[in-house]
Amino acid sequence: AANSSGIGTKYDFMVVSNRLPVDRCPSGGGGDDGDGWRRSPGGLVTALAPMMTKTDGAWVGWHGAPDETVEPFSHGGMDLVPVQLSTEDIELYYEGFSNATLWPLYHDVIAPPEFHRTWWDAYRRVNRRFADAVASHADRNATVWVQDYQLQLVPRMLREVRPDLRIGFFNHIPFPPPEIFAQLPWRQAIIDGLLGADLVGFQRASDAGNFMRSARRFLGASVKQQQVHVKGGDGQITHIARAQSFPISIDVRHITELASKPEIIERARQIRQDLGNPKTILLGVDRLDYTKGIRHRLKAYEELLNEGKLTVGDATLIQVASPSRERVEQYRLLREEVEGTVGHINGTYDTIESTAVRYLHHSYPVEEMVALYLAADVMLVTALRDGMNLVAKEYVTARTQNDGALVLSEFAGAADQLKQALLMNPHDIDGLKDTIMRAVNMSPRDAARRMRAMRKQILEHDVDHWSADFLQALNEKVIRDDS
Ligand code: G6P
Repeated sequence: AANSSGIGTKYDFMVVSNRLPVDRCPSGGGGDDGDGWRRSPGGLVTALAPMMTKTDGAWVGWHGAPDETVEPFSHGGMDLVPVQLSTEDIELYYEGFSNATLWPLYHDVIAPPEFHRTWWDAYRRVNRRFADAVASHADRNATVWVQDYQLQLVPRMLREVRPDLRIGFFNHIPFPPPEIFAQLPWRQAIIDGLLGADLVGFQRASDAGNFMRSARRFLGASVKQQQVHVKGGDGQITHIARAQSFPISIDVRHITELASKPEIIERARQIRQDLGNPKTILLGVDRLDYTKGIRHRLKAYEELLNEGKLTVGDATLIQVASPSRERVEQYRLLREEVEGTVGHINGTYDTIESTAVRYLHHSYPVEEMVALYLAADVMLVTALRDGMNLVAKEYVTARTQNDGALVLSEFAGAADQLKQALLMNPHDIDGLKDTIMRAVNMSPRDAARRMRAMRKQILEHDVDHWSADFLQALNEKVIRDDS
């Protein structure tokens, strides 16, 4: 990477996301490089880190602490440009507009979105701050890749001050149909913000379609095929924005390696033993979020216990719910509901030696996650709406023996790639119960056939392919389609 002194350095490749791909680590906690930071887990940083270090690249984002100014620094060969957020910014821009307006709106209004003008003002102000940080650090004709719904205004803001840049945007969450997007009081500004990009990427083809329909309906944009001809104030076409799907994936090599390590295989055996070696372990792994369908999953499981189709001792459900957005009200309510339900199920069905639900409100390192994947016979992904759901892809990747069954919601983006999963509609509790029982009773032969096909799909499309495909499309010369 370019020299890391920060000031005066210009970069020819910049990634922008709400959070920087590093976390603070407690001093002496291990895993750091002695500088108090460690790289965040996850596929996105794995995919982009090599480009950061090979080219003159930098990552722009929030460093995670309120009211703190951190100077640009370098970690693990990546140059990082921190953006500051005040306590008020966090409340209005992050917890408010990003996670109590956009998040529920974009996930099918599972929870009611709230619309507040003060939140919108903060969203604009903070997006401007991110755009300014990029504008002052980007070299001439640099490529900039903006990530996710927290930063939808950045492409337009950036193009206004730096028309020389090549600007890409990727939305990691769903894009809602225009009938729902219509509720947003600032719907025009959001579409206009995104159309500042040369390429707008989505998880599913249906998300890209929704976006283009909204561009037509709310901005009167002329959309042909996947291209939007974006006009400036004088009515002249300034550029062509393309909208396309690029389904994200995971670091396949890393997960496969971990799944083959003797100590992780041993840990999986230990987990089963600690649970009393039940015949069937079912597993759910989610951020504690109302989009994940955790309540639907618990309801189906409880009914199966109640009907005697599953019995405690023979079956155990491990539910990992990692803490998330704990200051946002809907997340607090959800936690209370889930924990009340788990307490009710366990109180009713537990025995002295066995539990119905092993509920864990923690996040775990990837090594422990892979051990859990190896320990689980049935993986339950019951999201009511999910951009992709990488847990589904990680589970399949970890099952190197081609056994185990994946129950997967049609409403997760992953359903477009994992067609051999047991696909279901989580709102249909009877259907969900039947699907769980099919998974529990699946023959090894059927399981192997499905797992093999799904593993092949993921092995051929890991996260490196995703980023390479997007960046290649971003840098393509666009032929104007006037047909
Ligand atoms: C989703 C979003 C990401 C976000 C992550 C964790 O995956 O698409 O942009 O970073 O959730 O949420 P948080 O609010 O903690 O960043």
